Amino acid sequence: MPRQLFVTTALPYANGHFHIGHIMEYIQADIWVRFQRMQGHQVHFVGADDAHGAPIMIAAQKVGKTPQQFVADIAAGRKPYLDGFHISFDHWSSTDSPENHELAQSIYLALKDQGLIDVRPVQQFFDPEKGMFLADRFIKGECPKCAAKDQYGDSCEVCGAVYAPTELKNPYSALSGATPVLKTSDHYFFKLSDPRCLNFLQEWTQDGKLQPAVSKKIKEWFTKDENGEGGLGDWDISRDAPYFGIEIPGAPGKYFYVWLDAPIGYLASLKSYFAAGGPKAKYGEARSFDEFMADPAVEQVHFIGKDITYFHTLFWPAMLQFSGRKLPNQVNVHGFMTVNNGEKMSKSRGTGLDPLKYLSIGMNPEWLRYYIAAKLNANVEDIDFNKDDFMARVNSDLIGKFVNIASRAAGFIAKRFEGELTASLGDDGKQLLATLQAGRASIVEQYEARELGKVLREIMLLADRVNEYVDANKPWELAKQEGMDARLQEVCTVCIEAFRLLSIYLKPVLPAVAANVEAFLKVAPLTFASAEQLLGTHTIGAYQHLMQRVDVKMLDALFEPPPAPVVELPKPGGEDIAPTITIDDFVKVDLRIAKIVNAEHVEGSTKLLRLTLDVGEGRHRNVFSGIKEAYQPEQLIGKLTVLVANLAPRKMKFGVSEGMVLAASHADEKANPGVYVLEPFPGAEPGMRIR
Ligand code: 2FM
Ligand code: ZN
Repeated sequence: MPRQLFVTTALPYANGHFHIGHIMEYIQADIWVRFQRMQGHQVHFVGADDAHGAPIMIAAQKVGKTPQQFVADIAAGRKPYLDGFHISFDHWSSTDSPENHELAQSIYLALKDQGLIDVRPVQQFFDPEKGMFLADRFIKGECPKCAAKDQYGDSCEVCGAVYAPTELKNPYSALSGATPVLKTSDHYFFKLSDPRCLNFLQEWTQDGKLQPAVSKKIKEWFTKDENGEGGLGDWDISRDAPYFGIEIPGAPGKYFYVWLDAPIGYLASLKSYFAAGGPKAKYGEARSFDEFMADPAVEQVHFIGKDITYFHTLFWPAMLQFSGRKLPNQVNVHGFMTVNNGEKMSKSRGTGLDPLKYLSIGMNPEWLRYYIAAKLNANVEDIDFNKDDFMARVNSDLIGKFVNIASRAAGFIAKRFEGELTASLGDDGKQLLATLQAGRASIVEQYEARELGKVLREIMLLADRVNEYVDANKPWELAKQEGMDARLQEVCTVCIEAFRLLSIYLKPVLPAVAANVEAFLKVAPLTFASAEQLLGTHTIGAYQHLMQRVDVKMLDALFEPPPAPVVELPKPGGEDIAPTITIDDFVKVDLRIAKIVNAEHVEGSTKLLRLTLDVGEGRHRNVFSGIKEAYQPEQLIGKLTVLVANLAPRKMKFGVSEGMVLAASHADEKANPGVYVLEPFPGAEPGMRIR
């Protein structure tokens, strides 16, 4: 009977694009899923965006979008990553889906029926300007221990102290800067301290199904310290409006905390996959989502990172258990991915590994799949992406040991034997192939146990055996020898048969290479069962190059810091500063304080005002100025301004203008209207020179 597997990866927050940590997890899960499919099992592999919570609500507000639109825009960018790295999700949904609203509310009501929900007043900081309660990360202030400024509400980045937000000195809201006030409101709690929950979790987390390190860690979480602190407390599952989330039934203005509805999103995504007819189309599944999930034979398997173990091994199973649902069969926890010896990832320093950049510079996604698989095991260990190690594994192992087997043999089969393999093999060849076939059992076992590093080591040891056989038989020499055709065909056949077996074993890791191998060998899709038989008499197609070597230049490009963003320097007032002049140039312009003794409209002109100016010369000057749109004459009369006093008089339609009054305006007056006449500080007198 094929197994029925429901497999998930952690649902990514919809407030950013995927980073290498997401891709690593997806590759790990995808390899396991592809392995299960190749074993003939039925797999429903689903994901979704984790849409809810205060950070997403606030991020959306900042860019002037609704949270729904914000999340949809992020979701629209997922495909190039998933397709690019051959991640074969069957379905992708969102925790803001109708299925999730419905499921979250029904699970909550079931917990309430069990008497596991409690309501208690909670005192919390409230931002009076924003009108909302503030999560710890939105409160800042001075550390109560070391007085460092601008520390978050839960811990100090300077001295490492951990405290409650109410202990901060001079707290302020990171959202508005306002001083938060303490306010009380009712919160809903999931009573995990109830003996039913404690007993269930103590058993469920310690019965050997979780990784040993995970069970051990959970035991610590259960234990109270000598002060009676710690242990499993009740879980606050509500947040007050405004909040982007799912409303709590029967509690107006209260929403589920994002971490309550997030894991329910696994079920909701599967449910929406059923609603879309996916399982029916793929496996002829006749049952509804509810019937499927009620089948005890269905296995529920989660892949997650170590940072969210608490939620997945305590809260989540307790929610499922006490709402009468299927429990996870596996919660597979992995460590983090670091880059180049654990250097802290930073985009600006170029030390991070940007998955889209990786693809855009033409790096092969299967190099990364292979490399990550080579580093992974079933433990909760961090893995490091290291340039030199990456080059070595891909070029020496993957290409040097595996891909080259095909390229060394296929040419002779094509050119000398019209693509025909032979069924009559010598004992050495038969033995080699039997060894490779016998390797399957252990490889399958290691795949099942997620010991991917071991899988690849075993496969590479088998590849070593094949390469030894090639070196011992030297087909390139046989090809030159008279009368050795049969032996040449046999040796090359053994190589191709061996290559096919290795391709089967590598297919979960290298799905695109495997598809090309299937085309080149002209065989049906490779499965683990297909390793039982050899090809025998069979005609293969033309060999096409399967994979390039990694060029170090690509890795250099991958980690090259992004070019500093081209900062468009603002042009002051919309135009560049004019070319430099000398002081001699400047003194040529005689600027004087002028008193506007009269100002009047000019008949027939829409732009000009006629100004009568006193520059202390014992006479008045007549100046036309294009400021009619900006000033009424009476606003100007009696004011001081600045005049270019030695400008050559200009004859205009309305009379002679004896100088020019200074005014400021933007270069693009249409877009930035406004003309502003200059006025000196008090004390200046008509006739004074400006220098
Ligand atoms: O840590 C995170 O990125 C969460 N968004 C994971 C949620 S997993 C599941 F519960 F949805
Ligand atoms: Zn501190």
